[in-house]
Amino acid sequence: MGVGMAGSGTSSLGDGIVARIDRLAEISETPEHLARIFLTPEHRAAADLLLAWMREAGMSAHLDAIGNVCGRYEGDRPGLPCLMLGSHFDTVRDAGKWDGPLGLITAICCVADLHRRGRRLPFAVEVVGFADEEGVRFASTLLGSRAVAGTFDESVLGAKDRNGLSMRDALVKFGLDPQHIGAAARVRRELLAYVELHIEQGPVLEAEHLAVGAVTAIAGATRLAVRLTGMAGHAGTVPMALRRDALTGAAACITAIEEFCRTDPDGLVGTVGYIHAMPGATNVIPGQVSFTIDIRAPTDPHRKLAVADIVRRIEAIARERQLALQIDVTHENRTVPCAPWLKAQVSEAIAAGGYRVYELPSGAGHDGMAMIDIADVAMIFVRCRGGISHHPDEHVDAADADAGARVLLRMIENFRPL
Ligand code: GLV
Ligand code: MN
Ligand code: MN
Repeated sequence: MGVGMAGSGTSSLGDGIVARIDRLAEISETPEHLARIFLTPEHRAAADLLLAWMREAGMSAHLDAIGNVCGRYEGDRPGLPCLMLGSHFDTVRDAGKWDGPLGLITAICCVADLHRRGRRLPFAVEVVGFADEEGVRFASTLLGSRAVAGTFDESVLGAKDRNGLSMRDALVKFGLDPQHIGAAARVRRELLAYVELHIEQGPVLEAEHLAVGAVTAIAGATRLAVRLTGMAGHAGTVPMALRRDALTGAAACITAIEEFCRTDPDGLVGTVGYIHAMPGATNVIPGQVSFTIDIRAPTDPHRKLAVADIVRRIEAIARERQLALQIDVTHENRTVPCAPWLKAQVSEAIAAGGYRVYELPSGAGHDGMAMIDIADVAMIFVRCRGGISHHPDEHVDAADADAGARVLLRMIENFRPL
């Protein structure tokens, strides 16, 4: 495997984590731009490596019905309910190497440390690596954790990737059975709690000079897919006044979204991260354009009002430009609070590590948004450099990875179920 487990005791957890982060980052669609996408050969290679690390850490491990990696470290007797730890191992395109893998690898390294010391707890510890959190391939997100939570929406099996391959066919190609995704589901009585460590992906901990923080809640999000249809035509012959250009219509929509979010005083954020123009030739007026919108706000009512307002603005632009409009909601997640009793145990572990306890909300989405349906959820954030994430410059210092691991390990060892 090329990366040995950390030495005895907890002193080098950080170095072991960084070595594994680097090793996992070698598994990418292209060497220049990190991309590990759901149901691809890179998904398979990463899963094999993670399963091997789980087994090396003393866990029984398997690939579940949607391609998640699942490890289990028994408690002081077999079959006990578990404290579940996890994060995702898929990435965005041209990703950083820490978003997702930090939490997953830290959890594996914590279990490895328990195993090395022969420490068994009065509950089992399970570690899940979710195969799809980012939703890069099929627009719908949290596919791995939704399958575990038993809330996987079978209607998304028909969703197609950019090459026209459906999720159903991609699962079959990967060697999984789309009829049996339900087998990945767990039930509430098997879980005592779900705890996820993750890089902060923002600048707050760095500004506070803190390596770790306790998360209060995960902000909800809405994602929309928009399609504008006008009329393709000759770039040299159709006068400007007679055009129904879908791309200039999309441009007007995008600037309207930016303007709307920019002028919101209460933290609304909106992003158009993907756009595709058809037919896509220099001398053809674009006849059809598809783009995505991602909208987030600190509260659910705020986000819902903003989505309705943005949709009205897009409708007005489409009407004015005589463009046909289709808008689909591809993802909708409510804000998920971290459970106070569990957050208190995270805070205790942070304080016991000698750190000032600092609480902060998560603007980014996480697998806890799905896991809340079967367990109380808590999150530990680890500082990243410059608040940079979803970017190849994403970085966590080994000392901070170590601090996060020590907090997680302490929390596991002192964990008291509700
Ligand atoms: C996940 O990274 C998200 O918040 O989009
Ligand atoms: Mn991400
Ligand atoms: Mn993430």
